[in-house]
Amino acid sequence: MSVLPSTLDSTHPAASLCGNSPAPAVRTRALHVVPESRTLPTVVGAGLRVPTLHGETAYANLDHAASTPALETVKAAVDRALETYSSVHRGAGFASRLTSTWYEQAREEVAAFVGAREGDSVVFTRTTTDSWALLSKALPSRTTVFVFDSEHHSTLLPWGRFRTVRLPVPQTVEDAHALLEEALADHPSRHRLVVVAAASNVTGEVWPVERFATLAHQHGARIAVDAAQLSAHRTIDLAEWDADYVAFSGHKTYAPYGAGVLAGRSDWLDAGSPYLVGGGATRSVTEDGTTWATGPARHEGGSPNVIGAIALAAACSTIARHREAIEEHESRLLERLRAGLDEVAGVEVLSIFGEDSDRVGVVAFTVEGWDSSLVSQVLSVEHGIGVRDGKFCAHLLVDELLEDPWGERAATAVRVSIGLGSTLEGVERLVAAVARLVEHGTDGTWTLTGSGWAVEGTDPRDVEVERPW
Ligand code: ALA
Repeated sequence: MSVLPSTLDSTHPAASLCGNSPAPAVRTRALHVVPESRTLPTVVGAGLRVPTLHGETAYANLDHAASTPALETVKAAVDRALETYSSVHRGAGFASRLTSTWYEQAREEVAAFVGAREGDSVVFTRTTTDSWALLSKALPSRTTVFVFDSEHHSTLLPWGRFRTVRLPVPQTVEDAHALLEEALADHPSRHRLVVVAAASNVTGEVWPVERFATLAHQHGARIAVDAAQLSAHRTIDLAEWDADYVAFSGHKTYAPYGAGVLAGRSDWLDAGSPYLVGGGATRSVTEDGTTWATGPARHEGGSPNVIGAIALAAACSTIARHREAIEEHESRLLERLRAGLDEVAGVEVLSIFGEDSDRVGVVAFTVEGWDSSLVSQVLSVEHGIGVRDGKFCAHLLVDELLEDPWGERAATAVRVSIGLGSTLEGVERLVAAVARLVEHGTDGTWTLTGSGWAVEGTDPRDVEVERPW
């Protein structure tokens, strides 16, 4: 059996980015339109069973907003790519040419996934955080950045204190629109960038990015969309949104192999300083100076994470083919989750825009009288459910949403987040577990220690498991 992909032209003579070996041929392959599958793609570890105080149970994964498991298709693509793994853009050997070709085809797949336009750059990074750090270093000097306090720290903080206009947490979409409009009118500048999350990592609420893109462009500003919480759940479309940049992470998109993406307008990226100075990012180096590459290579110094890129491309391809089934699955689970939590006395769901706003499957809540950290520990130790608690790297937003004029405020929240590793049974179990906590308290005896909540006796999770290496 041949391992050659049908698009590999092994005779292409183009010079490599390091200038010392032939580059692979990459023919632009029309991404074939695969009929939408009504089946749900499966994740690695779907059958995971975990120990609890009451014995072993199926793991209820309700923590996808932090990290998703890998898709089976992603693992298969990675396993296959490892068989011929070699250097990217640095070798004349067959394996190197093949690996290099797949790396560039991964870029094409991701470009299609984000609706990139002709001329847009697709840069492989490590994570969304890394993507924003890259963009912040490529901005033209004296760019003013506009960002809401409701953003995740990775989009709130990288721009530099003196050129960031911070907008308060809005109450409604209209409010957000008005706040941004006023700020843009009040802060004229040659270069301006609006940064918004497509979906909040705390509340799951979806921001109408097209509206904000229109507004930004009316004022001559650009817009960067953080799709970290959207990529696994809804369509990303730079062209349709008329947005300028988008970023997302493989580890939240069923491809936890260390790659992320920044895609968008190439002019600022080509003019900005290379993000990672090193081999591959240069066009020529002489005693007199260095000429830097343009295009994605400018920011991808060093040997690229080709396995991460292939994993991400495989995830994008699978998600795109199963889009409808994924959305149906998640909306069914979200509906059940929200209806269930609604019935539990003392549960308050956090929201920026109000109860009826559109959400991906992310719900953060507090339980009256219960520390959120204890709630998440109880869910894990007593019920085998994985969730996250805290402020979710969005401190300003969580502080604002938990504000309580009577001084009874909870400091943190519990967050449930749904994805392909979640089941209806897991959601039902979560709702029943929260209801049980409110009605009957905990099953175990819990004490707050210096390192957090501890259950009396042996924590069932403290099991000896052989290392994976
Ligand atoms: N940003 C990720 C989260 O919200 C890690 O959990």
